[in-house]
Amino acid sequence: MRYKLVKGTKDIFLNDINKWQYIESTSKKILEDFGYSEIRTPIFESTDLFSRSIGVSTDIVEKEMYSFKDKKGRDLTLRPEGTASIVRAYVEHSLVPPVKFYHIGTMYRYEKPQSGRYREFYQIGIEAIGSISPFIDCEVIDLALFLLSKLGLTNLKIRLNSIGCRKCREVYKKILLEYLKKKELCKDCIRRMNLNPFRVLDCKNEQCIRVTSTPPSILNSLCEDCKKHFAEVKEILAEYKISYFEDPRLFRGLDYYTKTTFEIVTDELGAKNSVLGGGRYDYLVEELGGDSTPAIGWAFGVDRLVLALESAKFRFPDESKKLIFIAWTTETAKKQAFKIARRLRTEEFRCEMNYEKSLKAQLKLADRLEAKLTVIVGTHELKEGKVILRNMEDGSQRKIDIEKIELELKQIMC
Ligand code: HAM
Repeated sequence: MRYKLVKGTKDIFLNDINKWQYIESTSKKILEDFGYSEIRTPIFESTDLFSRSIGVSTDIVEKEMYSFKDKKGRDLTLRPEGTASIVRAYVEHSLVPPVKFYHIGTMYRYEKPQSGRYREFYQIGIEAIGSISPFIDCEVIDLALFLLSKLGLTNLKIRLNSIGCRKCREVYKKILLEYLKKKELCKDCIRRMNLNPFRVLDCKNEQCIRVTSTPPSILNSLCEDCKKHFAEVKEILAEYKISYFEDPRLFRGLDYYTKTTFEIVTDELGAKNSVLGGGRYDYLVEELGGDSTPAIGWAFGVDRLVLALESAKFRFPDESKKLIFIAWTTETAKKQAFKIARRLRTEEFRCEMNYEKSLKAQLKLADRLEAKLTVIVGTHELKEGKVILRNMEDGSQRKIDIEKIELELKQIMC
């Protein structure tokens, strides 16, 4: 019986894993420099945590969650995103603001698989909990841009909006409902319209996107406080020459957002897919049982970033150490070769050897593994206390003292 990947998932290995490792290690370094520390939360949590945080009438909760009961009948869900879990952890461990976390891991959404959209995908995200200042809004947006461009993505555009607070949204809800009532919407949107009309604005149905392309702007419904906050965010962004375009349609697909929302888009992914999304969520800590605490964050999809970088013909740096292959000619030489491989590995060289093949086949394998050098251990040379060092790029060979292998390799590999 042969098994296949589950739809919407993938294996990442050989040449591709290098891309994920590059993005993860570069991100870790930059996020830590910006004062964020890593948090790892479980891959599954109670279903209620997600439905409450993300919102019962969102697409994620209504259609996309991988939910199941465990053997004791508990309702659990594979995390569709990271924010809810991090806020749960913040409240559960009674952390004291300000707190800045970053997270890296897989997320699960039962979406229709297509380019840049998977059912298991990787996100890297940040959450800055504890500040209401518009400076932090700008700091996280600036960090997002800085990180994505450091990773190699160019031509980035920021979509920016403010969706106000509870007060503003009550006012806007009525205006939006009037607008939506006159439109031909999909069945889901008709059902959700009265419950949560904002969700109609992030419906993925082509017809809904078309007929709701120019909704009344929420910016006209913002209360004085939200208006001031948004104006300050834009002022700071302008001062630091961070360009953005305002998009009053940007509600994002999760209910917890308040005030500033943003997405970063790139031409490399086409109009539909944003690479990064985020915003403020000033009520979520309180809703999950903590003290009223403002917060803001974002996440980007690693899989989507890889696609965008590939489409931009970005050359991913290879961070792995160059390989040294240890080959042998006879059974006696094999034992010595094994000893040399052990010795080099303890000195942190990346070594590989094979125990079955002929010398010719070993050299072929070294080629396939893209080894930079091969150390050939032969019985003749061993008698002289030497081995052969073969440069795999040009095929040149020379004898070196066994004792001096490390020294020679260090000189060549650096
Ligand atoms: P989100 O917009 O749902 O936000 O997801 C963030 C990013 O994850 C997207 O911009 C996209 O790159 C990637 N992504 C989402 N769904 C998929 C998928 N099915 N396949 C591949 N990539 C995908 C959040 O998840 C929020 N938690 C972000 C946030 C953090 N807001 C505040 N703090």
